[in-house]
Amino acid sequence: MNVDGVPFRTIWLAENGETVEIIDQTRLPHEFITLSLNSVADAAHAIRSMQVRGAPLIGATASYGVCLAVREDASDSALQAAYDLLLQTRPTAVNLRWALDDMKAVLEPLAASDRVVAAYHRAAEICDEDVAMCRAIGDHGVQLIRDAWDRVDRTRPVNILTHCNAGWLATVDWGTATAPIYVAHEQKIPVHVWVDETRPRNQGAGLTAWELGQHGVPHTVIVDNAGGHVMQQGDVDLLITGTDRTTAAGDVANKIGTYLKALAARDNDVPFYVGLPGPTIDWMISSGRDIPIEERDPAEVTSITGRTAQGMIETVSVTPPGSAAANYGFDVTPARLVTGLITERGICEATTEGLLGLYPENR
Ligand code: MRU
Repeated sequence: MNVDGVPFRTIWLAENGETVEIIDQTRLPHEFITLSLNSVADAAHAIRSMQVRGAPLIGATASYGVCLAVREDASDSALQAAYDLLLQTRPTAVNLRWALDDMKAVLEPLAASDRVVAAYHRAAEICDEDVAMCRAIGDHGVQLIRDAWDRVDRTRPVNILTHCNAGWLATVDWGTATAPIYVAHEQKIPVHVWVDETRPRNQGAGLTAWELGQHGVPHTVIVDNAGGHVMQQGDVDLLITGTDRTTAAGDVANKIGTYLKALAARDNDVPFYVGLPGPTIDWMISSGRDIPIEERDPAEVTSITGRTAQGMIETVSVTPPGSAAANYGFDVTPARLVTGLITERGICEATTEGLLGLYPENR
């Protein structure tokens, strides 16, 4: 996707072919800054501190983290240490475990001397595959937007509500929830996106709004509490979010607040779709209750960061000193509230049979 008209991915290699470059997402939307990752510790820090975030991009960064580790030391013990370090950076997005297992399966059988080249090769493939999967999610999901446009006799733009950032910035390119939106925009289907701000870290207000703006997609930022109201007004045709982990039975973990949107969508007959690539499905669990939910620093709730009129980036308190705060990162939307899953292989029901129909190799 484009930044000031220049095409970018969210992760790429520097000219030396080894250093990993990322966009520092903690500085957006106020500053566009790229960072170099030179070690596995840098990669782990980037994921933990959310310089990179979003399930597919966490997986892609972890795969390059393994490359940086084996470049320093390609022994079995160093490979295992890198796996362990990266795996514990964030708990909910299952793409992290998927990418690390994949890298380990490729590298473990090889002689240490062959591991560096093989690691960079596989990490690049993981990134390219992510781009292809997200584009395919867009190609399948655009039909839902076209159908919604037909339902209003093509008289007005299709209104889509999204939560958090499941956009280009959360993947290597295209995004998951946003891929159908970008494809619709490309195909000249008029769309307007309601962007939930997504407290506490404001991935909607800061990241989704920024990337939609960079791409010229009409959008409006709303506070998280406004979603139910705009649905009641008939101003939402479709809800599309991403997911950090979807169980084999279709329960969907996504950014905290997604469940409330799904409840409001059901009450207002608004279809609720979730965009996801195959590596976001956790075939080892069926119940959403088994998904580990990240709990983050309460300071993210008790304070807020923004840019002052003088152009300074500042963090201010929004609660009285001494008030306790809880910071749950994700919630689980039960499969029964999900209208459908938009995957790179097509759209299916959020059920075991629906998922197995598209991924029969997991039967
Ligand atoms: O805490 P984050 O910013 O990593 O959470 C991201 C989300 O919840 C996204 O919606 C999810 O990863 C899907 S991304 C394509």
